[in-house]
Order: sequence, then structure tokens, then C-alpha cells
Amino acid sequence: MVLSYSPPDMEPSLLRIATSLINEKDADRGINFALETLGKMAKADRAYLFQFKDEGRTFGITHEWCARGIDSKIMNPAPDLANLRTADFPCVADYLSKGKDVVVTDVLKLPPEAAMEKKFLLGAKIRSFAVVPLFLQDRLFAFTGFDDTRKCRAWDEHDLNFLRLGGYILLSFIERMIAEQKREQLFLQLENAVRQRTQQISDLSRQVVSIQENERKKLAMELHDWIYQGLIIPLGQIRNLEEQLEGSRSLLLLLEQLEKDLLHSQEEIKRIINDLHPHLLEKLGLKKAISAYLHELGKRNNFEVTFRDFSQIEYEPDELCSLYLFRIMQEAMNNTCKHSAATRVSVTVDIAPGSFYLEVKDNGRGFLKESTAFKRGIQGMLERAAMLGCDLVIESHPGKGTTITLEGKSGK
Ligand SMILES: Nc1ncnc2c1ncn2[C@@H]1O[C@H](COP(=O)(O)OP(=O)(O)OP(=O)(O)O)[C@@H](O)[C@H]1O
Ligand SMILES: [Mg+2]
Repeated sequence: MVLSYSPPDMEPSLLRIATSLINEKDADRGINFALETLGKMAKADRAYLFQFKDEGRTFGITHEWCARGIDSKIMNPAPDLANLRTADFPCVADYLSKGKDVVVTDVLKLPPEAAMEKKFLLGAKIRSFAVVPLFLQDRLFAFTGFDDTRKCRAWDEHDLNFLRLGGYILLSFIERMIAEQKREQLFLQLENAVRQRTQQISDLSRQVVSIQENERKKLAMELHDWIYQGLIIPLGQIRNLEEQLEGSRSLLLLLEQLEKDLLHSQEEIKRIINDLHPHLLEKLGLKKAISAYLHELGKRNNFEVTFRDFSQIEYEPDELCSLYLFRIMQEAMNNTCKHSAATRVSVTVDIAPGSFYLEVKDNGRGFLKESTAFKRGIQGMLERAAMLGCDLVIESHPGKGTTITLEGKSGK
């Protein structure tokens, strides 16, 4: 279709529609603005957009603009213009599907083959109208048009060109909106898939940690029952022998050394058992267990340990939260012992209903995070922190010590 006629007053309005739709993000607002501008310029009673649905079997009005004093077809329930059967408008549908405009000066003069349309239009109090088809990817997608409800109107080429160009701009806008909607849907689907996958990974991690904890507990029990307890009898026997062998100095010395070695092994086994499963936690609760753990650790290491408890009230977080906090503290302290060469270490806690704070700080050699590979220790801390729903913050600089902080919300 060649559109050659373009009177000067048409261009500014079309330009206004085009420029305002370029940045429009709201589909309804954009379409309504375009219809209003078109309707007012054409001095029509109504300007509207109908869209086809169900593969073209039905169609309905989606947007309209009405001149002052003209009743709205969208707001009025009868006749319902939002849900119409294409088969009830054979003549108009045939024209539109062939890409032709439908221009009716006087509905009363419609030919007999458009009898169905005539009956409907008169019922809807439409006297005169002009509509142009809008195709999207070779498919009749919609039509836009003008009505005159009060009088017959001979729609001229100027009106029609205006409607066609306006329709074309509207179609480009709708096409962009559909593409953006699809992109948003895809983005949401992707986001959902990522969220589900993250949840699965976190569930899996939780299972792994819980299996690990159970295994550690089992191993700790076996070590205690079979090895630690098993040492009690030989130790007792050695003491008996020592009493009986009071005369033999050299044998006595040998036995005393043996007893010392066995006691040392027993202490070491006790430490391993406690590392494997913090029994103190079940017995004493989180803060007392941390304090007792640090006390023991202080005796075996060359640094000064301070434990600070800023909690306002006595409160015990749930079992899992306590266990994870204890484990994180334990690994941070292991690292301090193994890597830091610190002279001072402090552990600070603040536990309240619904929140927790843990800080492990040393004045040791520190490390450069960027060039340090995190192994099972720090990875485990990070995983446990993620399961508690919070971030583990590691602050460390060579020569300036290391601070591990964990702050979050807990449930009971
Ligand atoms: N408090 C610290 N002071 C100095 N360096 C530290 C400290 N904590 C961690 N690091 C450095 O970070 C590295 C990673 O720690 P991570 O706990 O992951 O591994 P690891 O202690 O070497 O081994 P493991 O997996 O047995 O815990 C350590 O090897 C060490 O170089
Ligand atoms: Mg470690």
C-alpha cells in the first residue's frame, strides 16, 4: 500500500505518538495515549483497538478513547465487545483478513451480505466507522478504527491515511511490548531455575553436613567406648604393678614412663573425641562449651585467650544453630593455632533470641585472601554460615592478624 498523501497537520500528531511511545514502558498507557491523539485529530467519536484471540476465532476490544459525551464500549457490559465471535462478522472479517480497510459511511446502508454486522452495529449504536487491519508476522492480529456514533461520515483519504499510519506506529509499539514481556518471562524463568538449583545445592550441602556430623558423633563414641575406656584397665594394672614392685627401681621407672605415655595418649584421644563431637555443647550449652573449649586450648598453646560474652540475657539458640556456631569457632581457632603464630586471641559472642554474633580475632601473621586457597576448613565455615542464612566475613592482612565475623538471625 503506497501512502503518498500526508497533509501538514497530520505529521506533528503522528510524530508526537511515535516519540512518546519510544520510551513508554506501560503498554496500556502507550496504546491509550496513541488512540486519544488519533481520535482527537480525526475528530472521531471513538478510537479503539480490537485484538484477535483463539487463533482468530474470537476478538474483542482491548483499548479505546471516547470523545466527551460518548459512551464507553469497554465500560458498558451490553453488548459485550470484549468477547465476540469472528464468525458473527463474516463480511468485515473477510475484508480484514485480506488486508483491506473497512470503511462504512452509513451503517443503515450496509449491503445484504453484511446483515449480521448491520444488526450488531445498530444495536451498539454505531452509525459510521472506519477500521484498518494490523498484521503481526503475516497473521491478522488486531484492527484499529474510528467510530462516529451520531451521524453518517464520509471518511476521506486523509482520515484513512492517518488511521493507517497511526495503526502502524501502534503495531510497532505492541510488537516491542510483546518482545519485552517475553524477555521478562524468560528472565523470570531463568531466575526461578537458578533459585531452585541454589536451593537444591543448599539442601544437599545440609544433608552432607548432617551425615558428616552423625559420622563424627559415631566415631567419637566408638573411640570413647573402645579406646579411651580400654586404656583405663591397663593403666590400673600398671599402678598395681608399681605398688608391688617397690623394691625394683629400674622396673619402676620403666612402668612410670609407660603410665605417663598412656596418660598422654588418653588425653590426646579425649581431645580428638571432643573435636569430633563437642559433647560439652550438649551438656553445657553454647557459650559455656565455647568457654570450656577455649580454656583447654589455652592450656595447650602459647597464646593468651580471652572470651567475651556480650549477651544481655541467658538464651540458647536451637541445636543446629549452636552446633554450626561451635564448629565455625572451632575451625577458626584451629586455623589460629595452625597458621597464625598469634600471641593473643579473642572470641566474642552475643547471643539473643532471634540473633547471634560471633567473632574470632587473632593478632597473628594474617594472610592475603586473594592469593590464599581456601581448603576444607574455610570452605566448611562458609557452607555452615550459608546454612545459617548469613555471610561469614574474613578480614585478614599480612602482619595484621585475622578476624572472622558471623552475624545473623536464628530461630528456635
Ligand atoms: N588465622 C589465620 N592466620 C593465618 N593464616 C590463616 C588463618 N586462617 C587461615 N589461614 C590461611 O588460610 C588457608 C586456608 O585455611 P583453611 O582452613 O581453609 O585450610 P587449612 O587450615 O590449611 O586446612 P584444613 O582444610 O585442614 O582446615 C590456610 O592454609 C592459611 O594459609
Ligand atoms: Mg583450617
